[in-house]
Amino acid sequence: MERWKGRVALVTGASVGIGAATARTLVQQGMKVVGCARNVNKIEKLSAECQSAGYSGTLIPYKCDLSNEEEILSMFSAIKTLHKGVDVCINNAGLAHSEPLLSGKTEGWRNMIDVNVLALSICTREAYKSMTERNVDDGHIININSMSGHRVVPSADVHFYSATKYAVTALTEGLRQELRAAKSHIRVTSISPGIVETEFAFRHHNSDPEKAAAVYESIKCLKAEDISSAVTYVLSVPPHVQIGDLQLRPVEQVS
Ligand SMILES: NC(=O)c1ccc[n+]([C@@H]2O[C@H](COP(=O)([O-])OP(=O)(O)OC[C@H]3O[C@@H](n4cnc5c(N)ncnc54)[C@H](OP(=O)(O)O)[C@@H]3O)[C@@H](O)[C@H]2O)c1
Repeated sequence: MERWKGRVALVTGASVGIGAATARTLVQQGMKVVGCARNVNKIEKLSAECQSAGYSGTLIPYKCDLSNEEEILSMFSAIKTLHKGVDVCINNAGLAHSEPLLSGKTEGWRNMIDVNVLALSICTREAYKSMTERNVDDGHIININSMSGHRVVPSADVHFYSATKYAVTALTEGLRQELRAAKSHIRVTSISPGIVETEFAFRHHNSDPEKAAAVYESIKCLKAEDISSAVTYVLSVPPHVQIGDLQLRPVEQVS
């Protein structure tokens, strides 16, 4: 991680869960991390914790609703003005709504598309632009995908979510191909976790917290830190190594 010290990483969805753990790890390793989410006060608290822990990097909180393109573009413009640009873009923000294909609300589907697919694509395009205008040829885009981007589980609660994550699988490989066609050495990786104990299931089943708790009690789940360790690994491999996808399930997870 030595070469990343002092360089800028954007982590989307850095207020809680995998994004917060990733932001903390990268700050510990000396990076300048811009963490964005709607609940910016949580990122401010995390930033203060990183500072009092004496980490060598810094966490800069930025309030952004990723379902709004204007807000994403303003964020990239602020990063350019204040920190020159983005060297690493970690597209982590994501969510599931229980909206089955036969009966789901369009609004829920649209929100999943906006955050899981469109925001990830807009951030990727803007991060690439930021890298190329500064001649940064060793940047990295990391998409937090899911095992749901690789197989369809028989649960109507997650079919649309799964479709957005299949899109992330296609976008990751498509981007790799476009980067090669552009003769760039910028790398793109997706990390595909199974069940990770975060706020995810509580937000997904927001009207049924017991159902959410049961998800995390059913097996020994992954921790958010298991995923941030995977991010560190991906960023640490030698410059000629392009990891396409890293799949991590809890040992006890069957599906
Ligand atoms: N937990 C799992 O089992 C699991 C498994 C596989 C993949 N994943 C993926 O991992 C990623 C992170 O999930 P997590 O488990 O850490 O979930 P989480 O604890 O629910 O955190 C989700 C993050 O996304 C942010 N977010 C959601 N909508 C947003 C919006 N409109 N604008 C800005 N930020 C938004 C949230 O921030 P605010 O609410 O503060 O805006 C929060 O920081 C997601 O892409 C998810 O699909 C999770």
